[in-house]
Order: sequence, then C-alpha cells, then structure tokens
Amino acid sequence: MESLLIKGGVPLHGEVTISGAKNAVLPIMAAALLTDEPCVIRRVPNLSDVKFMAQILEWLGATVKVKGDTVHIHAHKIKGSGDYELVRKMRGSICIMGPLLGRLKKATVSLPGGCVIGARPINLHLKGFAALGAKIRVENGYVEATAKHLTGAAMFLGGRAGSTVLGTGNVMMAATLADGVTVIESAACEPEVVDLANFLNAMGARITGAGSPTITVTGVKKLHGAEHDVIPDRIEAATYAIAAAATNGEVTLLGARADHLHAVLDKLHDCGVKIERKGSAITVSRKGSLKPIDVTTLPYSGFPTDVQAQMMALMTLTPGISIITERIFESRFMHVSELARLGADIEIEGPSAIVKGGKPLSGAPVMASDLRASAALVIAGLAAKGSTQVNRVYHLDRGYENMDQKLRKLGARIERIEES
Ligand code: EPZ
Repeated sequence: MESLLIKGGVPLHGEVTISGAKNAVLPIMAAALLTDEPCVIRRVPNLSDVKFMAQILEWLGATVKVKGDTVHIHAHKIKGSGDYELVRKMRGSICIMGPLLGRLKKATVSLPGGCVIGARPINLHLKGFAALGAKIRVENGYVEATAKHLTGAAMFLGGRAGSTVLGTGNVMMAATLADGVTVIESAACEPEVVDLANFLNAMGARITGAGSPTITVTGVKKLHGAEHDVIPDRIEAATYAIAAAATNGEVTLLGARADHLHAVLDKLHDCGVKIERKGSAITVSRKGSLKPIDVTTLPYSGFPTDVQAQMMALMTLTPGISIITERIFESRFMHVSELARLGADIEIEGPSAIVKGGKPLSGAPVMASDLRASAALVIAGLAAKGSTQVNRVYHLDRGYENMDQKLRKLGARIERIEES
C-alpha cells in the first residue's frame, strides 16, 4: 500500500490546473445509461472512483472507452442489476439506479452501507422513486425498484440535513423518461446537479430550475446521445487554495470557477487570505498572519462539508480559537485525532470542533480515514516542521488527480512511497 512522504515548511508557488469534478462526472457517466446511443464526456479526471464507475457500466453491458480525459460510453444494450461487490465499494454508484429505472423500469443494486463519515441512508432516493410510481423492495442486501411505467409527480426531497445531492440527481434522471411532469422541491442546488441537468438536456431531456430548490422535469419518450465538458472541481480548487494559505505561498488556480466557490473564498478572505481573480484564474496568497474564524457546513451555496477538514487544518495554524461545525454528516471528524498527532489542539463538542490554533505543527506518521480527511493531512504535513507520512493514500486517489505531482510542481517536497 502506498503512502505520501512530505517534508514540510516550503511555501507553495506557481500554477495548478484544476481537473474535472469527480462529483459531477460520476452521475454524468451513469446518465449515459439512459440512452442506447453513444455519449462523449470530456474533462474526466483520472481517479479510482471514475475507474470504478466505468467497471460498473461495463458490468451492466455498456462499452466504455477512455482516451486521455475523454470517455466514450455506449449503453446500447444493458441489464438492470449492478454487480454487488462493485456497487458496494463505491457509494456514488447508487446513481445508476435512477437511469436504470428510467430506461428499463427496473433497477437492482446492492444497498450502499454507511461509511466513516456517517450512516448515509438512501431513503430520500427511494422516496422519490416511489413517488414516480416505483415499487421498492429491500432484500438480501439489495434494493430493487420496479414499475410498469413511471408517472411524473410532485415531491419534497428535503431530509435531516436538508437536500440530498445524489438523491436529487437520481430522481431527476428517472423522471426524464416518466410520463408527465415531475416537480422536485427542496432539490439540491450544487453545481454538480446543474452540470448533470445540462448533460441530460443535451440528451433531449426537458429540465428547468436546476440550481434552485425547485426542479421541474417534463418527461420525454426517448433520449439520444450527447457530448459534454464536465465542470471544474470546486473541491479540488478549494483544497489547493487552502494549501497555498497554509504554507504562506502564492498559487494560481487555472480553470477554476470562482462562482462555484463563493462560500470558501469568503471564509478565506475573512481569515486574512488574499484572493485575486483574472478570468478563469484565481490567485491565492497570504498577507501577514491568519485570523481565526467560525465555519458551519451547509448545503450549497453554504460552506461545503467536503472542505471542512481542509479548513480545519488551516485553522490549526491560525493563532486563536476557531469553531468548525459539521451540519451535513454526523461523524466527519476522523481527521481530528490525526491532526493531533502533528501537535494540533482540537476539542470536539457535539457537532463542533474547537480549534486552539497557532502552535507550530511537527511532522509524524498519520493515517488517512477518508478522502477529504486525507487532503487535510497533506495540507498539515506541507505546513509542519519535519517529515509527515500519510498512510493509506488510496483514499486520496479516489478524488484527487495526481495530487503529489501537482504539489511537486508547486515546489512541495512530497513523494509516493511504499507503506512501511
Ligand atoms: C454527495 O454525496 C457527494 N458525493 C459528497 O462528497 C458530499 O459530501 C455530499 O454530496 C454533500 O455535499 C458525490 O457526489 C459522489 P447527500 P451524497 O445525499 O449525495 C442525508 C466527497 O468527499 N441523506 O447530499 O451521498 C445524508 O446522510 C463526497 O467527494 C439522507 O438522510 O450526499 C447526509 O447527512 C463525500 N437520506 C445528507 O443527507 C438520503 O436519502 C447529505 O447527503 C440521502 C441523504
């Protein structure tokens, strides 16, 4: 198993190109199942999650060809049930259910278990499918949705933590081939949902309101093939912006969308980070010492939960008390104990972490527990004195394309090694 060995203390400098968005590309690849015609998706990042999704689509009968960052998918003939093991391995693959139900009126997948960040039920996905007329059955670890036909309906998809991103996408995809009009209230407004809706409309769907809490889908008889350029990854962009601030460097994010990053850039500005925008480039640098801030994660356009851990790493370096509150996932503080290994002083009080920052961090061996926690440990390692070894970087490879190479290009002393 691989690890990353980081020698900290080097300010990052230079330019980094932001890749396509993981959380947009996974449902967009699944959406290709809605048509028997070829689809072409560009700006697809080279990630293990993308490889998993490709395997799942091939298992269902589609052909998937990857040429550089372009993926050709042709779901000419497909079957309605996903491979148990493959689907179980990647939660995001639940988004094959909507397209299968929409096209075949039948979808069977393994129930995605919980993960380290929370229970992550799919009750809202199933609520939406049932509202369209599907019969839902959960048995032997599988969930099955079947319907003679799907009928458009009005539904409310808000849950314990507000809207659901993949739930909105899943139901929206099934509704594209339903009879009549579907109205999704409390829909997720994330840019990844908008990108999926744009791809579906390019396939001939009739979706309006994506990006707002009310999405309307007017069903059509059939969808056709389409081409699409995936949006840049706002979470990857936020991660490099925070790494620049943490190392007191200056980094330009190429190809990032500032309009997808308002909440993050606003918080960085509040804590004393300088943000300059020129076209699709955002330059991040620090002007003097950082100031403590409070952050609460919320559905979009609030502060993203996928940047919570990275922001916490920055606050460990910031003199004073910062409070980070996680409102989306019930156990997304796995990185706290690992940051403490580097000398951070963090106390957890219910959904909040109280960070007493400013004490210099010192390098140590740490363990990645999930995708964004591993990014936070890399940022802390880049700022810490001495060497940090981040183990289990397979978590990182799920969502960051060539992170160690990109960081090396920015001057970081980082290398991939076999775990000792
Ligand atoms: C997407 O997950 C992202 N994953 C997550 O990114 C991201 O953290 C999350 O949205 C929130 O922004 C992908 O897009 C592949 P949710 P998703 O349904 O759609 C509860 C990363 O690091 N809920 O919006 O699975 C749920 O438990 C990953 O890239 C229900 O209660 O998240 C959570 O508390 C991690 N019932 C909240 O809603 C449901 O049926 C939000 O979850 C569905 C969700």
